[in-house]
Amino acid sequence: MAARRKLIAGNWKMNGLKADGLALASDLAGRVKGAGAVPFDMLVCPPFPLLFPVGDAVKGSGVALGAQDCHAKQKGAHTGDVSPVMLKDAGCAYVILGHSERRADHGESDAVVNAKTVAAHKEGLIAIVCVGETEAQRDAGTQTDVVGSQLAGSLPEGTTAENTVVAYEPVWAIGTGKTATPDDVAAMHAFIRGELAKRFPDADKMRVLYGGSVKPSNAAELMATENVDGALVGGASLVADDFWAIATSCR
Ligand code: 13P
Repeated sequence: MAARRKLIAGNWKMNGLKADGLALASDLAGRVKGAGAVPFDMLVCPPFPLLFPVGDAVKGSGVALGAQDCHAKQKGAHTGDVSPVMLKDAGCAYVILGHSERRADHGESDAVVNAKTVAAHKEGLIAIVCVGETEAQRDAGTQTDVVGSQLAGSLPEGTTAENTVVAYEPVWAIGTGKTATPDDVAAMHAFIRGELAKRFPDADKMRVLYGGSVKPSNAAELMATENVDGALVGGASLVADDFWAIATSCR
C-alpha cells in the first residue's frame, strides 16, 4: 500500500473576522513550527477576505493556505466570484470544491464542480473535491450509488494524487455532532478508493479525507481507520487547541 501522508484541513466556512483569523492562524503556525517533524500536513481555509492576512501569518510555517470555492473561469464579468488565478495570487495551494453547503446553497451540480476542478488544476491548485450522501439517501441504502455518481461526475480526466484530494463528508454528520461509525467510514472509504482505482492509475496514492463532526474525542479512531488519509474539519478547526489535538492524533 502506498504511504499517504495525512492532511488535516480546517474549513473555517463563513466564520471569523480579521483579528480572529490572524490569531488562530498565528497560533497554529507557531505550533507547527515549534513541533518539528509532524506526521501530517496542515491546511487552513479561511473566508476569501482573510486569505491575504492569513496567508501572511502562516508563511514559512508549514501551514498551507486554501480557499473554500472558486469560479471555473480565470477572469471576467462574474460579479461576486473569485477565480483560481486570484487564489493562486493570494498564496493558496488548495481549494475546496463541491462542498455540500455549496451544492445545497448554490445549486452546484457535479458538472459545475467538475469545471471548477479543471480550472483549479490549470492554475496548479490542489482541489479538495467533496462528496457525501444525505441522511435520507443513507436511510434508503443508496449512499454508495450517490457517492459513486458524485465521484464520476465531479472528478475530471487528468485527476491525479498530486492535484486532487477527495473528501467524504456525509451531509448528516456535518455540524450535527453525529459522526459516522469507523465501520461506516471504512466501508465508504474502501468504496471510494475502488471507484478512484477504476479511473486513475495512481488512485492508491490519492488522499481521501473524512469530514463531519470530527473533534478531539473521535479523531484518533477516525484517523486510524483504513483508507482515511486525514480530516476536513469545520467547527473544531476554529479552536486552535481542538484543531491541534485532532492533528496530533495522527500517527
Ligand atoms: P463540522 O466539522 O463542523 O461538522 O463540518 C464539517 C465540514 O463540513 C467540513 O468541511
